[in-house]
Amino acid sequence: MARPSKSKAKRKTSAWFQRHANDPHVRRAQAEGKRSRAAFKLTEILNKYRLLERQVHVVVDLGCAPGSWSVELARLIGDGGLVVGVDVLEMTPAPGVRFIRGDFTEGDTRRALEGALEGRAVDMVVSDMAPEMSGHKVVDQARIIGLNETTLSFAVNHLRPGGHLLLKTFMGEGFDDFRREMQGWFARVRIVKPAASRKTSSEIYLLGEGFRAPAAGGF
Ligand SMILES: C[S@@+](CC[C@H](N)C(=O)[O-])C[C@H]1O[C@@H](n2cnc3c(N)ncnc32)[C@H](O)[C@@H]1O
Repeated sequence: MARPSKSKAKRKTSAWFQRHANDPHVRRAQAEGKRSRAAFKLTEILNKYRLLERQVHVVVDLGCAPGSWSVELARLIGDGGLVVGVDVLEMTPAPGVRFIRGDFTEGDTRRALEGALEGRAVDMVVSDMAPEMSGHKVVDQARIIGLNETTLSFAVNHLRPGGHLLLKTFMGEGFDDFRREMQGWFARVRIVKPAASRKTSSEIYLLGEGFRAPAAGGF
């Protein structure tokens, strides 16, 4: 595929800044002191499906930087709760959040995450992770489905029965198969497109509610 010319790339960047500056969710995030507009995607989903009303104390936040989801989760869960965030990028510390820097696809990072949980069962796993975009749709789609599979496998091994999984994915090849796979593990799987998610973006969230843990020795 031909590289875009410099002027075309510049035009694309300035169009992005223009859209960003005019985005009402960006303005609201700045006015309310949120770390990013992504905060509104999460709070909309948490409120709409009343997820925190169902005994949620321990949450794993994958791809947490700059931290707006972790900050909201720690605030909403309150004292006695635990939020463990993971990201390849650094995150400014936040009260009530344990941060692990690393690539979630690497075993060492997942072991560090397990250590931070100190044996506590997880009530909810949320993931806003997306691969770095290569610009090749097929490649990016395969990468996010790969991340989704690793996330689902972690959730299946760590969620308490009845727990929830919220993850970002893209509509495209592999989406339907992955959704069906999730349906095998959760009482209900919803496809969610929050208002703060740009309509032009193919990102979509899958919400699995009511984890059906396998019977002992069932794996
Ligand atoms: C859209 S941002 C998350 C925003 C975050 N939910 C918030 O509210 O501030 C996606 C994040 O996923 C992280 N990420 C992507 N792939 C990852 C991986 N394999 N392991 C850990 N973090 C990853 C990126 O570094 C990026 O910070």
